Amino acid sequence: GLKIVTIGGGSSYTPELVEGFIKRHKELPVSELWLVDIEAGKEKLEIVGNLAKRMVKKAGIDMKIYLTLDRKEALRGADFVTTQLRVGLLDARIKDERIPLSHGVIGQETNGAGGLFKALRTIPVIFDILKDVEELCPNAWVINFTNPTGIITEAVFRYTKFKKYIGLCNVPIHLKNNVAKLFEVDSDRISMDFAGLNHMVYGLNVSLDGEDITKEAIDKFVQSDISMQNIKSIDFNSDFIKSLGAIPCPYHRYYYKTKEMLQDELQEYKEGKSRAEVVKELEGQLFDLYKDEKLDIKPPQLEKRGGAYYSDAACNLISSIYNDKKDIQVVNTLNNGSIRDFRDDQAVEVSSVITKTGPKPLSIGYLPESVHGLVSQIKSFELLAAKAAVYGDYNSALLSLCINPLIPSDDLAKVILDEMLEAHKEYLPQF
Ligand code: G6P
Ligand code: MN
Repeated sequence: GLKIVTIGGGSSYTPELVEGFIKRHKELPVSELWLVDIEAGKEKLEIVGNLAKRMVKKAGIDMKIYLTLDRKEALRGADFVTTQLRVGLLDARIKDERIPLSHGVIGQETNGAGGLFKALRTIPVIFDILKDVEELCPNAWVINFTNPTGIITEAVFRYTKFKKYIGLCNVPIHLKNNVAKLFEVDSDRISMDFAGLNHMVYGLNVSLDGEDITKEAIDKFVQSDISMQNIKSIDFNSDFIKSLGAIPCPYHRYYYKTKEMLQDELQEYKEGKSRAEVVKELEGQLFDLYKDEKLDIKPPQLEKRGGAYYSDAACNLISSIYNDKKDIQVVNTLNNGSIRDFRDDQAVEVSSVITKTGPKPLSIGYLPESVHGLVSQIKSFELLAAKAAVYGDYNSALLSLCINPLIPSDDLAKVILDEMLEAHKEYLPQF
């Protein structure tokens, strides 16, 4: 059987993943699942790990769950490593959201200043994990859900020699499932291309049973209120989206509706209810549920988190690599000519054929002219953020904020940068 190691195993999302492995046990025979966490996450690891054990027992499958704080012990001989960690825990996310908002700009965990700081904290930790993987399980694939997935993917391919890395997000699968719902069909009858960057991905070329329905899909999309649990579903302007010719992702609201989103966030900020603060409360409730010895399934309350469907994305990906399925899934990987708007050596989020030797991005061609500018600007932001994270380079960090469309002033960028460097300094050894 397969040995899977999940770093950040104490996460409240772990039952999602365990449910995914249980569902697919026939095609993906996981015999060992190692949940790894750090000292600070020990209690959560125990609670969620015990729930995982009960889930497996109830399902009656042969999958052993190991809980450990010893990453190296866990990694030895692993086949797949998944990473879902949060450096500095939710308190750091609260700062990522609240500090920018206190200056009247969008405070979001993966966009703008919050996204930069999450990258600065996370990239060194991911690089350490990759070093351990190279030493202890050099044949393993690393599947990373840790945000900001796009910037981390960029950093891994640009600044390490590590190749068996895939960045993953649930936004595309979420969007596709929701488009299927609009047509009231099973989502495997829908096919659509995804292309762009993480949390900046567009749905293109939608078809139903092989027939092009892109226009109808966009028409239905603009009448719907598709979003995700973590993003307020303020309507996109329907004339705008129709002429855009592509389906935007929920995160595009921060860019196309900056004013409305900011207004909403500022209200929540004043009430002490930024998303991270809401999530902190939700997590408390989830762990209370997880503690209940009678609970032996993934509780439906977990669906209040933005990560719904993430286990489908993860387990489908692992299964397709393991079984060499050659089906199409959306991943963060090297562009290699797939999207002509980006260079070959830049990380993109794109529909890819999943094989046992990894993802092979589809040939997408050029993105619509209408989105080229924005994605290019965000790619510049990502490149600078990755460089800042790897070298602890102040100027790259500042530049990344000054060119980010969510930050309306260079002087303010510097103020926010300095304040956040100070607030997060415990987790920024490179600075
Ligand atoms: C979506 C995104 C994830 C993100 C999550 C946040 O699923 O794709 O990258 O982590 O939302 O959800 P939360 O419940 O933590 O706000
Ligand atoms: Mn995501």
